[in-house]
Amino acid sequence: MAVDAQSFKEALAQWASGVTVVTTLHEGEPIGITASSFSSVSAEPPQILICVNKRLFTHRAIEEQGTFAVNILGQEHLEWGKRFAGMIPEIEDRLAGIDAASAVTGCPVFTGALAWLDCRLIHAYDAGSHSVFIGEVLAAAARGEAADPLLYYYRDWRTLTDA
Ligand SMILES: Cc1cc2nc3c(=O)[nH]c(=O)nc-3n(C[C@H](O)[C@H](O)[C@H](O)COP(=O)(O)O)c2cc1C
Repeated sequence: MAVDAQSFKEALAQWASGVTVVTTLHEGEPIGITASSFSSVSAEPPQILICVNKRLFTHRAIEEQGTFAVNILGQEHLEWGKRFAGMIPEIEDRLAGIDAASAVTGCPVFTGALAWLDCRLIHAYDAGSHSVFIGEVLAAAARGEAADPLLYYYRDWRTLTDA
């Protein structure tokens, strides 16, 4: 018998994570969601994973497009994290005002992000409510020095404090 939903949520809420915005294209138009289920998978060849809810439009778009980009947010990007999570409903164009470029796949990469990874979808695993998307990293860029990452922990946005 599986764990009850409340215990599952309470356990996962204790897991601190970084915050990304995953972007893709739908009929040439850029779209994206806030996602914290991001992980490195393989160094050689370079692969990462994201988990995306099957109910989201972005899920279908990634499957159809076969490409996506992961933008790692800093604490100065809190508003991006909120807007790509649908928490600022008055914003219709989530990309508005964000400096974005295209690397290999054409999916938007945010020039102001702490880092970005441009990916080709190579595996999609069914995982209950979500799909696990494995991406081969075709291009990446990063600030190259320590910054202030945006974090998510216990249902709230956080910043890092040195231990
Ligand atoms: C901090 C944070 C992390 C999230 N991580 C994920 C994630 O990893 N996968 C996912 O499918 N949704 C995740 N979400 C929820 C999506 O961002 C949200 O459902 C989506 O932006 C809604 O998009 P829509 O308004 O286009 O449906 C996260 C939300 C927040 C606030």
